[in-house]
Formats: sequence, C-alpha cells, structure tokens
Amino acid sequence: MALIEVENLTFQYPDGTLALDGVSLTIERGEFVALIGQNGSGKTTLSKCICGLLRPTGGRVLVDGIDVAKRGIKRELVRRIGYVFQNPDHQLFNSEVYEEIGYGPKNLGVPERERDALIREAAAVAGVHESLFHEHPFFLPKGLRQRVAIAATLAMRPQAIVVDEPTTGQDLRQSLEVMDFLAELWRRQGHTIVIVTHEMPIVAAYAQRTIALCQGRVLIDGPTREVFTHADLLAQTYVKPPQATRLAQAWAALGVRPDVLTVEELVAELERVLAERRGVATRWPGP
Ligand SMILES: Nc1ncnc2c1ncn2[C@@H]1O[C@H](COP(=O)(O)OP(=O)(O)OP(=O)(O)O)[C@@H](O)[C@H]1O
Ligand SMILES: [Mg+2]
Repeated sequence: MALIEVENLTFQYPDGTLALDGVSLTIERGEFVALIGQNGSGKTTLSKCICGLLRPTGGRVLVDGIDVAKRGIKRELVRRIGYVFQNPDHQLFNSEVYEEIGYGPKNLGVPERERDALIREAAAVAGVHESLFHEHPFFLPKGLRQRVAIAATLAMRPQAIVVDEPTTGQDLRQSLEVMDFLAELWRRQGHTIVIVTHEMPIVAAYAQRTIALCQGRVLIDGPTREVFTHADLLAQTYVKPPQATRLAQAWAALGVRPDVLTVEELVAELERVLAERRGVATRWPGP
C-alpha cells in the first residue's frame, strides 16, 4: 500500500477560491518528493490537506490507508505524517524550546520520562543543541526556529514529513544545512520527505521526484531529471528549470545531454563532448 494516496482532491476556501481542482497522486514510502509551482498554485493547500490540517471539499486523502478527513484519527495520523509550516512562527507558540518540541507527545499523553527521551532524540536529529532548551523559540534566528519546528514534528516520530518552503529567508549555507539534514533523515532513517519549494537548484540536488502544480491541478509529475526537460510545460506555472539544465538544453545541438541537473553534471557533460570532438579532430586524417 502506498503511504500517501490523493484521489481527485478538490479544496475550496470559504471565500469561494478553488485552490485544488481534481488532484490525484500517490507517494510511496521512502520517496523524496518536491512540490513546485507558481505562487498560489495550491502547494500549501495540498500539503495541508495531505496532513489532515484542511478537510477536502471533494475527493479524499489516505495516509497509510487512513482517510485523513475522518474524525477522531488525529492521534493515528500524527504518528504517520507531520507538517512543518511555511512560516515556523505559525507553528511555534510555547515559551521554551524544550516545551515546544515536547508539545505534540504531551498532547498524545506520552508519559514524561518517555517524552523526555523523544524530545532529546528529535532535538539531536534536527540539530537543536540542548543548551537552547530553555530559550524562547521566538528569539532564535529563522534557521534555528525552523529546526525547532522540524524537531517538534519529529518528536511524534512520523513516517513522513512535509516541509513547506524549508529554505525561504535563509542564506545559502543555512539552506544547505536544512536540506542536508532532511536528506539524512531520508537516507538513514527511511523517512518519506515532501518539500514545497520555489528553489529549483534545491529540487535538482535533492528530490528524486517532482510534482508541479498549476492552478490547483497537477501539471507534470515524474522523476526530477525528466520533469526539467519539459521547460515549455513548466513555463505554464512560471517555473524555469535550474540554470545548469537550461544551459545544457541550449547546447543540445552540440550533443550535450538536455537532462543534466547540476553544474557538476554540466561540467562533466561538456568535458565529455569536448573530448569526443578532440577525439574526432585527432582521428581526422588531415589534408
Ligand atoms: N485562507 C485562504 N482563504 C482564501 N483563499 C486562500 C487561502 N489560502 C490560500 N488561498 C488561495 O488558494 C490558492 C492556493 O494557495 P496556496 O497557499 O495553496 O498556494 P501556494 O502554491 O502554496 O502559494 P505560495 O507559493 O505563494 O506559498 C491561491 O489562490 C490562494 O490565494
Ligand atoms: Mg505556500
């Protein structure tokens, strides 16, 4: 059974905005997926529906076979999937980091000693040092607030974690730290990871699979490498493939593969093409 099954999902906000319009997709256990698309295409709404934070107006979402809209399943659900908000400040409301990370398990009625172990483990995994436990989350830098938010989600030991814009408002080093940390969770602990992002180099470097939304519908869904070869389609949702991919595509006529994802791959590909040409040149018998 797939971990996440979204079937013909629609979502309309009370003001009448149709944010999702017939979305169907399946995410298997252990996948690393990026959700992309222009502002307002429905990424956050879809993520919140998947995590049971918004109730679909049509269709359904199953997580590990559980219909997330069913009443009284919150406890079962938080052990399966966790959502890290686009803005961590919408998630953090306790006055101490330690309380914040332990809030979910406390709500689940986890006894104190067991809870303490969960908090320490989640904090360690998320890179929140114990010396910060008595700080007020509000006064931490954004990158750390995000880690606290991630730790709070991890403390419930969910199988999947959906992180809405993990790198927004952070410098390159902080962004890579958060992403490397998510990649580590994925690789080492077998978590299913879904990231929502506008940063295509991040998608190219980390996500195996990419789903692009456009006006509340799935525009394209496939392996990241393949998705980025459809530049014309992605333009409909104002997404441009990473620069390395676009350069490769511009040089396709020279024999460069059009599906490179990173600068490193592009350099290797250019070296291959040049070596081939040199080979041809040296084999050339000459006049
Ligand atoms: N609370 C709300 N009430 C009414 N409409 C909303 C609400 N939240 C979002 N919308 C609308 O629903 C649509 C989808 O919004 P959503 O936030 O899911 O998009 P998004 O892809 O996450 O955008 P962004 O990249 O800007 O975060 C947009 O038209 C948006 O204006
Ligand atoms: Mg959003």
